[in-house]
Amino acid sequence: MNLWDLKAGLYHAARCMPLIRKILDREIENLKLLLDEAGIHPEEVLDIGIGSGSSWIIFRESVAGFGIDQSHAMLGQAQKRISGLNPVVASALHLPITEGRLQFVSVIGLAEYIRDKAGLLDESIRILKPGGWLLITIPTGGVMNRLRNLLGNPLYIKGQTEWESMLEARSLHVVGKKRSLLQIQYLLQLKLNP
Ligand SMILES: C[S@@+](CC[C@H](N)C(=O)[O-])C[C@H]1O[C@@H](n2cnc3c(N)ncnc32)[C@H](O)[C@@H]1O
Repeated sequence: MNLWDLKAGLYHAARCMPLIRKILDREIENLKLLLDEAGIHPEEVLDIGIGSGSSWIIFRESVAGFGIDQSHAMLGQAQKRISGLNPVVASALHLPITEGRLQFVSVIGLAEYIRDKAGLLDESIRILKPGGWLLITIPTGGVMNRLRNLLGNPLYIKGQTEWESMLEARSLHVVGKKRSLLQIQYLLQLKLNP
């Protein structure tokens, strides 16, 4: 059992507290806008680090999908919220998915908890089809995110410029980008001929 398993029971309730809700609502709004502006409404999604599933509302109701998380308890919470979800317990750095299988992958609110950013990107790209989409968020560098370390799970924050050169080096084209208090949200497309 890890700390996320312990947090799972109270996680969704904590996210409904007014100030936190306001911050999260803006993040959700930005993610929806990115998809709408690009006209992307995936029919199948793989959400890595799905947590309690609260970001799934950015997708249409008919979406089918897989939720990956290393925490059994978090996946249990996500299953309560999302009907038809296929839950998979796995590490974001070792996904049990065939190469080039998916057209759409989301990584929301996870990158800050992963020390090996290159590994996270490479593994997400490995399972994408050429021309596939990656919706990913990274934390902003401000003091508010540093304070989140007090919640127990350490955050590993990399600067925006360094992130963007990692994206470019991996043939990920930035189709859209938005910013909120704690997050930068990116809609990326894997180039067809990297
Ligand atoms: C902030 S929470 C959930 C975020 C969720 N995507 C959302 O938008 O509400 C981060 C989740 O990532 C999971 N996680 C952390 N490190 C992971 C890893 N290496 N592999 C898979 N899941 C991981 C945690 O168990 C937790 O459920």
